Amino acid sequence: MPFSTTAMYAGMTENNQWRRLPSAVGSLLDCLGTNRIPLTLASGEGALLFDVDGKEYWDFYGGHAVTFLGQGHPKWVEALRAQAASLSFFTTLADVPVRTRAAHALARFTGMPVAWFVNSGAEANEAALKIARKVTGRPVIIAMENGFHGRTMGALGVTWGYRDGHAPPHGEVRFVRFGDLAALEQALGPDVAGVIVEPIQGIAGIVEPPSGWLAAVADRVRANGSVLIADEVQSGIGRAGHALYTHHLGVVPDLVTVGKGLGGGFPVAAVLLTQPMADSVKPGEHGTTFGGGPLACAAVEATLRIIEEEGLLERASALGERMLRVMRVPGVEATRGSGVWIGIELDRPAKPVAAALLARRFIVGASSNPRVLRLCPPAVMPEYAVDQLAEALAAVLR
Ligand SMILES: Cc1ncc(COP(=O)(O)O)c(C=O)c1O
Repeated sequence: MPFSTTAMYAGMTENNQWRRLPSAVGSLLDCLGTNRIPLTLASGEGALLFDVDGKEYWDFYGGHAVTFLGQGHPKWVEALRAQAASLSFFTTLADVPVRTRAAHALARFTGMPVAWFVNSGAEANEAALKIARKVTGRPVIIAMENGFHGRTMGALGVTWGYRDGHAPPHGEVRFVRFGDLAALEQALGPDVAGVIVEPIQGIAGIVEPPSGWLAAVADRVRANGSVLIADEVQSGIGRAGHALYTHHLGVVPDLVTVGKGLGGGFPVAAVLLTQPMADSVKPGEHGTTFGGGPLACAAVEATLRIIEEEGLLERASALGERMLRVMRVPGVEATRGSGVWIGIELDRPAKPVAAALLARRFIVGASSNPRVLRLCPPAVMPEYAVDQLAEALAAVLR
C-alpha cells in the first residue's frame, strides 16, 4: 500500500491514546504546525515533487529548507546504499572510517576545525548552549527577538515565541532586538555565557541585520569573555550561497550549528567548534546514540562532495540573484535574502497567495511574518522554473 498521511492519521485514531482526544486528526495537525501543505507526496526527482495522483509540483520550499541537492541525487543514493550494505550502524564508542572522513570533509568545507555530529538542529543548539555555559562557568544566554532555534527545552528557551503554553525552561535568557547593538551592549555583563544568533533570521521571514552588525556583536561578545554561537542550521551548508554565512560576513564564531541541508535529507546536524572550544570539551560530555552514525556520515560526505563537484554554492548564489530580481512583481513590497533562501514581502497576507500558487503547482514556504513568503528551493531548481514562479506570482497578485 502506498504511504499516505491520511492512512497514518486514521491508524492513529484507532489507538486509544489518540481516541481520548476530542479530534485526534485535528490535534495531530496542530502538533505539526499550522502551515501544512495539503498534499500527499509520493516521490520526487531533482526539484520536482509528485503527489500520489501523479501531479507534479516545483518545490520552492525544499522540505523546510532541507533538500539543497534536490530529491534522489544518484551519487547520494549510491553513497547511502553502499554504506548500508557495508556497515549500517555502530555508535561513537568505536571509530568508523566514514565518520572520520565526514568530519574532515565538513572541517575542510566550513573552515571550522572540529565537528561534532548530532541528530537535529535543536540538539546541536542544546550542545552549543551547554558548551558555552561550561566553558565560561556563567549561567545567562542572550538571544534575539524573533529568533528560532528549535523545540527541545534548551533551544526553545532561546527561541522567541513558539512556547505554545510550555513552561519556560531552566536558565536565564535575555532577549534583545535583532540588529540593535546598543541593546546587546546593555544586556551583556559578567554573568553572560554566550550569545546565540542566526546571521539572517530564517523563520522570521529572511530578516537581515544592518551591515557590520554581526562583526560588532562578535567584538563585544569576545570583550565580555562570552562565547558567540551562530545558528546556521538554516543558513549554512549552501542555503545562503556559502558554506557558512557568518564566514562570508568575515565573522568566525566560537561555535556554529548546522543541520537541515547537511545530510541532503538524511537527519544529521553538527556543532562546529574552534580549536579553543574543542580543547575545552572532554569526551563523553555530550553523548547521543545515533549521532555520527555511519549512514548519517555517508550522507554528509556525499552531500559535501556533490556540492563541491557540481558547483552548487555558485549555482545557489546565481539562482538567488535571479529570484531577488524576477520576484519583484506588482504586489511585492520587497525581496531579500541570499542564495536559495529568499523572503518575499507582500502587500497582503501570504497564506492565500501560497495556496493560490499551490493550485498552480508551486510549493512555497511561509514564515512567522504573515506577509512574507519564504523560498528555499534546491540549488538544482532550473532557471525557467524560477521565471515561471515569478509569472504565477504576478498573476496571483494581479
Ligand atoms: C535557525 C534554526 N535553528 C534550529 C532549527 C531546529 O532544527 P531542527 O528542526 O532540525 O531541530 C531550525 C529549524 O527550522 C532553524 O531554522
